[in-house]
Amino acid sequence: MSIQEEVGKRRTFAIISHPDAGKTTMTEKMLLFGNMIRSAGTVKGKKSGKFATSDWMEIEKQRGISVTSSVMNFPYRGYQVNILDTPGHEDFSEDTYRTLTAVDAVVMIIDATKGIEAQTLKLFKVCRMRGIPIFTFMNKLDREGREPFDLLEEIETELEIETYPMTWPVGMGKRFEGVFDRHNEQFVRFSGDEREEYIPYSELDQHPELTESPTYKEAEDELSLVDEAGDTFEIEKVLRGEQTPVFFGSALAPFGVETFFDTFIDMAPAPTPRKSTKGLVSPENEEFSGFIFKIQANMNPKHRDRVAFVRVCSGKFERGMSVTLGRTGKAFKLAQSQQFVASSSNTVEEGYAGDIIGIYDPNVYRIGDTLLTGKETFEYDELPQFPPEQFKKVTAKNVMKSKQFYKGIEQLVQEGAIQLFKRPYFEDYIIGAVGELQFEVFEYRMKHEYNVDIELTPYGERIPRWLKEDQVDTSLFDDRNMLVEDREGNKVALFKNDFSLRWFIDKHPDMDLIDLFEVNQYTQTNE
Ligand code: G4P
Repeated sequence: MSIQEEVGKRRTFAIISHPDAGKTTMTEKMLLFGNMIRSAGTVKGKKSGKFATSDWMEIEKQRGISVTSSVMNFPYRGYQVNILDTPGHEDFSEDTYRTLTAVDAVVMIIDATKGIEAQTLKLFKVCRMRGIPIFTFMNKLDREGREPFDLLEEIETELEIETYPMTWPVGMGKRFEGVFDRHNEQFVRFSGDEREEYIPYSELDQHPELTESPTYKEAEDELSLVDEAGDTFEIEKVLRGEQTPVFFGSALAPFGVETFFDTFIDMAPAPTPRKSTKGLVSPENEEFSGFIFKIQANMNPKHRDRVAFVRVCSGKFERGMSVTLGRTGKAFKLAQSQQFVASSSNTVEEGYAGDIIGIYDPNVYRIGDTLLTGKETFEYDELPQFPPEQFKKVTAKNVMKSKQFYKGIEQLVQEGAIQLFKRPYFEDYIIGAVGELQFEVFEYRMKHEYNVDIELTPYGERIPRWLKEDQVDTSLFDDRNMLVEDREGNKVALFKNDFSLRWFIDKHPDMDLIDLFEVNQYTQTNE
């Protein structure tokens, strides 16, 4: 098969949602379609319980699928599907955000009884800033939830994205009868068992038991309203991340999942060209290239390995091939490669654009590094810096260890494990992270890799806003709204909470307070 054909088959995506919206249940159903597991509950059973913070390997072991099985891949209807896990709950970290730089599409699962929740919003912002196509699944229709119109309006206003309902539900909870499948012009009937019954629109008049129910009539009226007043479907908008097709159903029942998955797989894009220092690189380019979006330390409890996750962007990956590291221009051989399938890891022999390869990292890689073959050396665009949410002051317990302390911090910050800030005048080291897990891993690695016990003093959750150099007035900040500097020396205000931020904006309307999510979006769309 040619590279072009291989690339065309790839569908690489992540599922984003708030905890409990149904991501695990949905992933499991997809794995069932791909015959990757035999029965439901297989993935679920591996879900994390409480973990021992003192032992990173224990964290690894107990968290099972959410940490180690970061990629699931399987063939489905002629496609090669790659699902990347976006760890949530207490595993939420910058890696969760960075995973989204390695996918070509995203499935957003929303609990229809709740609507958009905090974590979905955060992840959505990353998709937005990268223009990733987003497909929405409104889950838990088997329960009494919010009105479909209400849910769609919330997406449109809160997320500022056009919606196009691909399916339209008839009732919900106990009255749930099924969905109109607008795309395939058929009614998908919910019978309570796992099979989906399809009735073409043209044959609906043969089912009076369905069409004469008040719930059906109500939904039919709603559907005509959607047909008349709603936005038209435009695949170009979907592919630019400006319109989201919305599907209604239940991941648990399951209902509407197959209709959703089939349509999604057909519509979602195969890998597209990617920006680099030498311009756009086509996935069909003969030369291999890829970039590292995640580095995982100590994945295997028996060895103190690190594994770097590479998203293949062009050419063909082959086990044992020689590659060049774009950053240094040095060539070396990739001895080992693994690709992760459910909880067991298989060695992968080859890969094409869209595939994710795990390679052994002898401590040379950094997040964002480019690996490539061919005469020309280049680098893929730097991964964006994501705004941290929690901050802690870090000190070495033993001052005699300061040399290792600084070395450890320097390297871990370089690697992208944590973000570093300094407080002017105080010279305090402050580390910032997106989730608690990053601090735990940082502490563990400082101890085990650099032999330094550290002390972490929490400043709690803060809202960071970057300032313009000519607008910085140090007298406006104190312990409450703290002023710090990032690694490049940019001044950053850490606001205590939303109220403090709003109060500050009121008092100083002329100051520009920059939200990294927005800056990233700006630079992405203006390139
Ligand atoms: P997550 O990975 O996004 O955190 O969510 P997960 O799939 O674990 O689902 C969270 C809970 O919601 C689970 O219930 C799951 O069974 C339930 N759920 C998922 N999809 C649906 C749906 O379509 N309808 C209904 N009614 N429930 C759904 P749990 O009680 O936490 O777990 P369990 O004991 O049922 O396994």
